[in-house]
Amino acid sequence: MSAPLPEGWEAWPQAKLEAEVRRHNWLYWDRAAPEISDYDYDRLVERLRAVAPDAPVLSALGPTERLGADVEHRHPMLSLDKCYDPDTLQKWADKFAGDVVMTPKVDGVAASLRYEDGRLIVAATRGSGTVGEDITANVLRIPSVPKHIPVERPVEVRGEIYLPLSKFALVKDQFANPRNTAAGALKNKNADRSEAMGLCFLAYDALIDGATRQIEKFAQLAQWGFTPVEHALLPKDGMQAGYERYVARRAELDYEIDGVVFRADRLDEAARLGATSHHPRYAIAYKLQGDSATTHLRQVEWSVSRSGALTPVGIVDPVVLSGATVTRISLHNWGLVQSKKLSINAEVVAMRRGGVIPYLEAVVTPGDTEIVPPATCPSCDSPVRVEGDFVFCGSATGCRMTAVGELAHYANTVGIEGFGEVWLETLVDAGLLHTPADFYRLRAADLIEFDRMGETLAQKLVDRVQARREIPLAVFLQSLGVPHLGRTASQTLARHFRTLRAVREAKIEDLVGLPKFGELLATKVAEGLGARAHLVDALLAAGVSATDDPGAPAATGEGPLAGKSFLFTGTLAQMTRDEAQEKVAALGGKAASGVSKHLSYLVVGDEGKAGSKLQKARDAGVTVLSEAEFLALLAGDN
Ligand code: IVH
Repeated sequence: MSAPLPEGWEAWPQAKLEAEVRRHNWLYWDRAAPEISDYDYDRLVERLRAVAPDAPVLSALGPTERLGADVEHRHPMLSLDKCYDPDTLQKWADKFAGDVVMTPKVDGVAASLRYEDGRLIVAATRGSGTVGEDITANVLRIPSVPKHIPVERPVEVRGEIYLPLSKFALVKDQFANPRNTAAGALKNKNADRSEAMGLCFLAYDALIDGATRQIEKFAQLAQWGFTPVEHALLPKDGMQAGYERYVARRAELDYEIDGVVFRADRLDEAARLGATSHHPRYAIAYKLQGDSATTHLRQVEWSVSRSGALTPVGIVDPVVLSGATVTRISLHNWGLVQSKKLSINAEVVAMRRGGVIPYLEAVVTPGDTEIVPPATCPSCDSPVRVEGDFVFCGSATGCRMTAVGELAHYANTVGIEGFGEVWLETLVDAGLLHTPADFYRLRAADLIEFDRMGETLAQKLVDRVQARREIPLAVFLQSLGVPHLGRTASQTLARHFRTLRAVREAKIEDLVGLPKFGELLATKVAEGLGARAHLVDALLAAGVSATDDPGAPAATGEGPLAGKSFLFTGTLAQMTRDEAQEKVAALGGKAASGVSKHLSYLVVGDEGKAGSKLQKARDAGVTVLSEAEFLALLAGDN
């Protein structure tokens, strides 16, 4: 838990600010025991920068500011050579003497941790192999990463940062897979949030002198407090059996693996073999095979991806892959469809490997009907454009993003939970969702096909959607995503017109003069509603009804201060800042964390000491209130 900055800190003189920044650096770096949040640390630094831009402590940046910066690797972080069959593996092993060390190939994010004088000074991703990205601020929060080790000489430890599957299960409706989730968490500017994901570290190497065998390195790592990746010493003729044990145990592990890594145990042999520019010759990844089956391609659908590319999705006769029934497979891109001479009714091999969506692996026998890309984008009807291997939606704005945004807005507004953005993208790509009306057509059977989606969860998602068929009129209007028709304006319309039909029939003149509705807003809202007529019709056709209940509460936040945000600066005389924030919340308003043009009010306690926020608020045109004016607003005399 971090402590808040003390009252009145913004008025500290330069010397005090400098001393505090230095002390918090020390707490964070040397003690690994920060007292304040990263956010407050940043505020402190920002304040010092405003007061004394040349303060020497500012040039010694802390981990938060360095997040994402380039880190040059002292020794390149190479890739691994790979193989898929026992013969190739055996040939690799024939090149050196001694035993092999077997470890699981953990599907996470490779990281290098540099220690100097016994403390962790920088953590970086692999990046290009020569230059990675600074992730120190977040790695310092991973419990299985020792912040101090009992060695003074510089040491580099390498390993894999991963998100345990048990942790991923809690957020899987928001993220594509554990690997991407871990990568995202490592880049998060908010170390508290990154920490909350529950990342772990498994060490697989230490760049140290003096060891003669790889297994000694694992023992050393364990002694320093790392969790070494699982490892076994095997004779060369035990490799295939060892690999098969992992294949069998795969489902028991709390991390995803995409293979098994074998490496020469004798380090003199490893040194003799050396490395290519791509991979060391003393190690190899024996990749896990995916699950494959043959089926027939019956149809091709084109879904629009984030980049605006139209990707072909194959509809196949149902087939079971890794325990799940599959009817849709990725055909990658138009170029692949052409190069594999794919046609409708072809017999194909569908493959599922690791955590990915099943895809077309091969064509067994050709079909009879040619596949052609559509002339227009299935999402927005703009004419398509073919460029090399890809077919693109011709709309310059990228229509898939629009679809995902529209879906997310609808789900949030009407309160359908469990559809995070990544999940929506997946469903849009799969062609299952296009407009909000499609939510109501989802069946559990459609959802079960996706990775890590069990029957229970699929049913739960469908039930949640179905539970949101009757929607209060104000919420319904807001859910349409009409620009300028936010919560307040929607409530005004619902209270005034009472029925959806009356709202739809209203003319611009009927809107002008409603509370806060001037000519401009009335025109925008009327036009916007007209442009969304197809969506309203589609929702009604899907069985949604806008309940004509003028008294129905909106989805969230009611009260005279609803939609208003408040930020406090300086010391208040009548109450503490917490009390002031509570009062705002009780009246439906919310507390803001910084000055922006979206801020409604900046409340200044003691103007003389208010500092940079006051200036920023004035620049941004935010209304500034004195404490007395704020109290008057609370009392309702505005
Ligand atoms: S040994 C060349 N052992 O796989 C570096 N790597 O595809 C020798 N990986 O970047 C690495 N689990 O991050 C090794 N048990 C393991 C591993 C492992 C995952 C990663 C590693 C490397 C990538 C190569």
